[in-house]
Amino acid sequence: MPIKPLRKAVFPVGGLGTRFLPATKALPKEMLPVVDRPLIQYAVDEALEAGIEQMIFVTGRGKSAIEDHFDIAYELETTMAARGKSLEILDATRLKPGAVAYVRQQEPMGLGHAVWCARDIVGDEPFAVLLADDFMLGAPGCLKQMVKAYNQTGGNMICAMEVAEEATDKYGIITPGARDGALTEVKGLVEKPKRGTSPSNLAVIGRYILQPEVMRVLEGQEAGAGGEIQLTDAMARMIGSQPFHGLTFDGVRYDCGDKAGFIQANIAVALTRDDIGPAVREFVAGRC
Ligand code: UTP
Repeated sequence: MPIKPLRKAVFPVGGLGTRFLPATKALPKEMLPVVDRPLIQYAVDEALEAGIEQMIFVTGRGKSAIEDHFDIAYELETTMAARGKSLEILDATRLKPGAVAYVRQQEPMGLGHAVWCARDIVGDEPFAVLLADDFMLGAPGCLKQMVKAYNQTGGNMICAMEVAEEATDKYGIITPGARDGALTEVKGLVEKPKRGTSPSNLAVIGRYILQPEVMRVLEGQEAGAGGEIQLTDAMARMIGSQPFHGLTFDGVRYDCGDKAGFIQANIAVALTRDDIGPAVREFVAGRC
């Protein structure tokens, strides 16, 4: 079967972000900045770099700052222009008209449910899913690396990362099959396995390329781990009927849904910047 090109990406941003309260009471977690760009901007840039043409945001109540971020800010822009300030800094926030769609997840019932809410916009095409709070630093970007591999394998592809044995109960975990360089055949998937029962220490992290059939699997799916409708459970049911691979990404992943990971991401990015890098390096070195 010919491999269908990947044009669409789903950004589930309907979660509550409880690990970051009170910061995320009124501010969407995905708008937290790494230095001077919100997490969602990095995820959208990564998708654009990978050739994605349509961005689909699955939002919820209190998430309108994300819509505003990717819109025109008349007052700000008019005032800046009147003061002779360059608007170039806002270029990345301008998405092509018609290249962005929003759908509302009325209740945060889990990642699988959020993805399912995008089914009509996704239609009968493969699609990517990007979790903006999984901040991926790499060149080329994580999704671009996955698309390159997908163009060879087709089917479903997830981003895989080795985690410490004691952390396996926090992730979706892969039962690995044959390995070929960075690619691992996925033989099974289990969400947050209980300590001592994990099939490996190869975890699924927040980038996916999925075939549209997953939407039909998600339809009517029961809640799984944590009482949420889990994407992992739906993906597990696709194994065997379609090719399924994990790609170990060449780069670094920061869990920005977690406070320590978020601070680490900020320091890592700040240190690479010409403008603030020297000052941050001096500050950090003085405290170690
Ligand atoms: P997380 O589980 O990391 O996000 O989901 P959360 O539930 O918002 O965070 P905590 O655990 O309470 O701190 C990963 C991604 O999936 C989205 C989140 O917005 C996040 O980007 N998500 C999660 C949804 O869109 N809907 C859901 O029902 C759950």
